Amino acid sequence: MKVGVLTGGGDCPGLNAVIRSVVRKGVQEHDFGFVGFRDGWRGALQNNVVPLDVSTVRGILPRGGTILGSSRTNPFKHEDGVRRVRETLAAHDVDALVVIGGEDTLGVATELSRLGISLVGVPKTIDNDVSGTDYTFGFDTAVGIATEAIDRLHTTAESHMRTLVVEVMGRHSGWIALHAGVAGGANVILIPERPFDVDQVCAWVQSRFKINYAPIVVVAEGAVPTDGEMVLRDRTVDEFGHVRLSGVGEWLAREISHRTGTDARTTVLGHVQRGGTPSPFDRWLATRFGLHAIDAVEEGDFGTMVALNGTRIVRVPLGDATARTKKVDLSLYEEFEVFFG
Ligand code: F6P
Repeated sequence: MKVGVLTGGGDCPGLNAVIRSVVRKGVQEHDFGFVGFRDGWRGALQNNVVPLDVSTVRGILPRGGTILGSSRTNPFKHEDGVRRVRETLAAHDVDALVVIGGEDTLGVATELSRLGISLVGVPKTIDNDVSGTDYTFGFDTAVGIATEAIDRLHTTAESHMRTLVVEVMGRHSGWIALHAGVAGGANVILIPERPFDVDQVCAWVQSRFKINYAPIVVVAEGAVPTDGEMVLRDRTVDEFGHVRLSGVGEWLAREISHRTGTDARTTVLGHVQRGGTPSPFDRWLATRFGLHAIDAVEEGDFGTMVALNGTRIVRVPLGDATARTKKVDLSLYEEFEVFFG
């Protein structure tokens, strides 16, 4: 059997670990051949295909990014996109695909699977917002990076007795903000799932100053004030209709300063959260996802996505996983409100 592999959407640490385990097990145990598609669905659309074998995947386990490249290309937004994808698969005798992606890349996979293309999905994203799996790989690394940043910001905030607002990624969901905020001992955590009241944030900030500590406010880029709109960097949209976020941190620091008369600054962690070597947990999870994905291909269990359920790797229907994003449950968020202020 010949298997094509692609990585799409925003990159995250652990993509190479999946590619490695898919290829190693596929070649060594199932005698499969492989090709890689460059830059996600763009490679399938433009017939940009590279050889993939055991020698290609040597040494890549700890490397961040993806050796195959990535993009936010959506074949359904291109004329004859599906036909062109089918032609590329036929030209390289590809029988099945392993698609490694988040909600958008896997959303395309869901549609292509309904149209008869044989494929298995692997969930990735630092945002941890893919339904059907307890965790995606990339998330643990991002939380580690954000937590270390918060730890460092505490000491400089205390020296200057000012508020430091830390903006983390998380377009629709506040998983990174919540986990890193709790781990880093933030005084306020703001997530997209719960619109925030700026006056309440200011009250928490002031109560922190009263006991002679400097407030750390962690805000997810997709968090929205109750009496305002989402703060955007610009209004351009990608092929999946997403605008570019970032800006809420700067905006909030200005509001805090203005309303409390105290000093406030912002640190935007941005793509630092997606770069570099994966954490041991992400290497472990990505490796297991890869091993189980290639088994699903071997068994012809297409239209599925490998997923973490407790400590077990299971398969779920792709359509179920991509029907909605996985949000932070508000009761979980509320558990930590005791630490606010
Ligand atoms: O989808 C993952 C993610 O990191 C989001 O948290 C963030 O909004 C987005 O990607 C940023 O994407 P880009 O790399 O296109 O700036």
